[in-house]
Amino acid sequence: MPRTEPAEIVAYGVTADERPLLEAAFEATFGGGHRVRCLELVLDRDTVSTAAGHEVICTGVNDVLDAEVLRRLAEGGTRMITQRSTGYNNIDLDAARGLGLGVARVSGYSPHSVAEFAWALALAVNRRVVRAATRTREFDFRLNGLLGRDFHGRTAGVLGTGRIGEAFARIAAGFGMRLLGHDIAPNPECERLGMEYVPLERIFAEADLVSLHLPLLPETHHVVDAAALARMRDDAILVNTSRGGLIDAQALVETLRSGRLDGVGLDVYEEEAGIFFFDHSLDVMTDDVLARLMTFRNVLVSSHQAYFTRDAVGEIVATTAADVADYLAGRTGENTLVAPAR
Ligand SMILES: NC(=O)c1ccc[n+]([C@@H]2O[C@H](COP(=O)([O-])OP(=O)(O)OC[C@H]3O[C@@H](n4cnc5c(N)ncnc54)[C@H](O)[C@@H]3O)[C@@H](O)[C@H]2O)c1
Repeated sequence: MPRTEPAEIVAYGVTADERPLLEAAFEATFGGGHRVRCLELVLDRDTVSTAAGHEVICTGVNDVLDAEVLRRLAEGGTRMITQRSTGYNNIDLDAARGLGLGVARVSGYSPHSVAEFAWALALAVNRRVVRAATRTREFDFRLNGLLGRDFHGRTAGVLGTGRIGEAFARIAAGFGMRLLGHDIAPNPECERLGMEYVPLERIFAEADLVSLHLPLLPETHHVVDAAALARMRDDAILVNTSRGGLIDAQALVETLRSGRLDGVGLDVYEEEAGIFFFDHSLDVMTDDVLARLMTFRNVLVSSHQAYFTRDAVGEIVATTAADVADYLAGRTGENTLVAPAR
């Protein structure tokens, strides 16, 4: 039964950058009808009481929707959860199903945001951009230690040639790079760009730049392990904008400690939960692997920001508002993970 009375949707984990975009998306979708109340608060067992009385809530990747939180949401009158991301590993879907709670997410958005950021890391690592900027701020204008290389004519190895891998490969082709790819399902668009699909071992052995765009699955977990790192060229650059679990971070530390690899760009880290997206500048860093990685001058770490462009976030919030509209109109769509009990 379609709903018309105005509802207040409470959104958790909303950053200051995201807030105006989310509010604008609700305004565009509901024209001042249903409103969104944006909170920076993370939804978890300690904060779940703030959702009481809200039929629809909107969540992000850091919110903890385990069985206990879901039970208390259902008790408080929540019927629908709209997640502002593609991934939903923070939500216990079986528990939601058992409670009759609906769950929807954003099934896709601009692959260019992530692909372009992978290139930002690759270029910054190769051309020592961060080191150069730090130096010139101190009025040190020497060039020693800033020697990079042309990407033109060199080999890019792309692991995972789906939407993001293809966008990455297009940019690599624009640089005039030779393209090697690995995927269980070769992408004809990449083949048209001249990509040669080869076994993983060949990519590790031949690529000057290895960029990871695989989903994290049991089969892809630690695809870059000690053996893969040992195969890589001493002067290779490794970039990961996909999921931290694709790289064995301890093995990466050992590799870098031995002086191998020209540089590494990481937007994701296997133990990033609870660290990335938060200010830990006044805390003791207890993750020794991350702390060690940050000490290498040829490693750049960013905190899962590859998707973070006005365009991609705009698509994410517009889809989220559409997911809310679908629920209120009694529809289920391609973004529905669990249909709400009606
Ligand atoms: N850093 C960020 O902000 C950010 C944002 C969005 C997505 N991501 C990551 O990027 C990844 C890729 O996204 P996408 O939109 O390109 O996904 P996609 O589904 O379009 O592409 C994934 C590709 O991996 C291939 N693949 C799957 N399992 C494989 C296996 N076992 N071996 C080899 N190939 C395999 C698929 O065939 C597909 O071509 C996502 O899974 C996500 O982890 C990161």
